[in-house]
Amino acid sequence: MSIKALKGFKDILPDEVGLWQFIEQTTRDVFHRYGLEEIKVPTLEKTELFVRTIGESTDIVEKEMYTFTDRNGTSVTMRPEGTASVIRAYIENGLYVRGSVQRLYTIGPMFRHERPQKGRLRQFHQMSVEVLGSNSAMIDTEVMAMAWQILKEIGLQASLEINSLGCTSCRPAFKAALQEFIKVRISYLCEDCQRRSTTNPLRVLDCKSDHCQAEYVSAPSITDHLCDGCCDHFEKVRQTLESLKIPFDVNPKMVRGLDYYTQTTFELITTELGSQGAIGAGGRYDGLVRQLGGPGVPGIGFAMGMERLVMLLSQKEQGEILHALDLFLVTQGDKAYEKGFVLMQALRAEGLRVMMDHEGRSMKNQMKQADKQKAWFALILGTRELENHEVALKDMHSGEQELIELPLTFEDWAAVIKDKIKI
Ligand code: HAM
Repeated sequence: MSIKALKGFKDILPDEVGLWQFIEQTTRDVFHRYGLEEIKVPTLEKTELFVRTIGESTDIVEKEMYTFTDRNGTSVTMRPEGTASVIRAYIENGLYVRGSVQRLYTIGPMFRHERPQKGRLRQFHQMSVEVLGSNSAMIDTEVMAMAWQILKEIGLQASLEINSLGCTSCRPAFKAALQEFIKVRISYLCEDCQRRSTTNPLRVLDCKSDHCQAEYVSAPSITDHLCDGCCDHFEKVRQTLESLKIPFDVNPKMVRGLDYYTQTTFELITTELGSQGAIGAGGRYDGLVRQLGGPGVPGIGFAMGMERLVMLLSQKEQGEILHALDLFLVTQGDKAYEKGFVLMQALRAEGLRVMMDHEGRSMKNQMKQADKQKAWFALILGTRELENHEVALKDMHSGEQELIELPLTFEDWAAVIKDKIKI
């Protein structure tokens, strides 16, 4: 019997890889424009790292981690998210001495034993950002603007929801108000909420049960409990988002599924993926570095779920994105084939993705092959074209074809063709 992949674990097949690469390259490009540097961290960490950062009473830690004891008897966990590992690496390697603000990103697989469904996997991929060393509200806006810019450049839309979770000085009063609110309804709530109402009351607002959520409609709002400092910070974030013309809604019920957040939190939501609508999310975590034994450095970040971005994009017209090849070179006759081979190499040296047929197929079959291999253009070089120093360039999408005049010197052909197709 053949062996199948585990439930919630997915192969990414060659036909889909074009979209993955497009998303990753576009994102990396935006990251670099925002001054981010890449960091690569391990997929396996000591379990304690996630328990101490994400929080003992979160769904992730209580129910979703891939945790096991390794051969040395150490409890280890496949990382369920990237922030904890990046902060550990930042502290362990003393990255704070490189400069006051470190702007880092990492891309890779994460693991959560959730119930698989559309847009929810057990192994999924995140592109995740951590900016460490500044508590300026402008950084919060810059980080959200970066996420916004990525979506824009990928060609997707989402709505931005923001909230402030306050800080260590104002959150206790909110917690107390929430506990009072829960107390009178406790018997109507699910077991998790009943337990969390004493251990970690904020967590109840993150409950996935519709029944509990209906109870929380009239729950106290964190935005009514913020201290002056948190109010000013949040006000500045809203003002600067407005000045960048980034639309947003304040959602005072958004507490996020991880315990490390302070002040600004945000989620990018789409309605096009059913119940798994968050395509990116993050927030500020000013106490996290110190909590893990590092200096008192504030931080903010976010992560985008690549599977969800790919799904959204694959529901749309992908135009130029999915072209696996820039050009397929179609030739007719031995001479054109031999010249075409040299031209293909020159075009590749110019940076184009080019293929041609080596099996002596008819022109009609070569055109079919160009289509099958998802070439953007077909470049047609026959005996007549060779004699006249010209090639026919066919846009495989629009079907439009034009004749390009080429210079007398063959060596200059590749540059002229490249210029013509402007890739
Ligand atoms: P998160 O909200 O848990 O935040 O995950 C961020 C994104 O990862 C989600 O918005 C979603 O797109 C994607 N995602 C999460 N779980 C799954 C899943 N099971 N299947 C597919 N996609 C999923 C964090 O992980 C934080 N570390 C983000 C952050 C970075 N905050 C500060 N810095």
